[in-house]
Amino acid sequence: MTIERNADTPWSKFDPEAYVDLNYRTPLEADLLIVKLVRDYFSDCSARALPASARGIDVGAGANLYPALSMLPWCDSILLLEYATPNVEYLKAQAVGGGYDTVWDAFWDVLSQAPAYRDVEPRGRFGDIVRVERGQLLELGGERRWDIGTMFFVAEAMSERPDEFRRGVECFMNALHRGAPFAAAFMTESLGYQVGDHTFPACRVNADRIRESLDPFTAELEIHEVTPMVRPGHEGMILALGRRNAAVGAP
Ligand SMILES: C[S@@+](CC[C@H](N)C(=O)[O-])C[C@H]1O[C@@H](n2cnc3c(N)ncnc32)[C@H](O)[C@@H]1O
Repeated sequence: MTIERNADTPWSKFDPEAYVDLNYRTPLEADLLIVKLVRDYFSDCSARALPASARGIDVGAGANLYPALSMLPWCDSILLLEYATPNVEYLKAQAVGGGYDTVWDAFWDVLSQAPAYRDVEPRGRFGDIVRVERGQLLELGGERRWDIGTMFFVAEAMSERPDEFRRGVECFMNALHRGAPFAAAFMTESLGYQVGDHTFPACRVNADRIRESLDPFTAELEIHEVTPMVRPGHEGMILALGRRNAAVGAP
């Protein structure tokens, strides 16, 4: 049996509307809890670890705006890096015109309960500072770096291969400046996932594997297990919150 690689996967068949319907149109408790934890962590980091006008990145943004929304109060610019063309089109449509879809309001409601978010007008600001780029996580080589970053359900959900999982984590961490706060989320023990008519690959990871992959790059690291099983085919979600360390070449 062949092990599906990132490059073998039909990303051009990814259906963002089906993905939103399946995952975000009715917000899951697990996602709302994750948003709250990210909100509080970034708020806590803001005084000690963020420049006044930070540059943010969400890697593999897909059809999910809440990671980018969680960075809004601190950023002058946010790059949404995404490989699948239908998702790139989805994200571009969310960033222009009348503003993003109302599906994302439930997530902003949680964010806006914290002081740093309260005075932000999210639709206008999202449209002003977000830029969408078609790009490849595995080619983020460390030449460009950001002050704050998010990567949600990407490193373990882009291939079946453990080496590509580790490489995805490494490339994300190498896109961050020393000290940069980050949030990364992972499905645990995922066997792959269905979006519309297509099945996409996953690499089975657990909390230990995730911690091992992040440890060499982090100055502080919190691993939160969001345990309730939310969909068939995986066992739960892990949220990793931390800051990039000075080791392994972070300038
Ligand atoms: C499970 S989805 C997660 C989407 C979104 N971040 C979320 O939280 O729901 C995985 C995403 O990774 C993207 N992706 C897959 N391979 C990629 C790569 N090599 N570089 C960047 N993004 C990639 C897919 O197109 C898809 O949007």
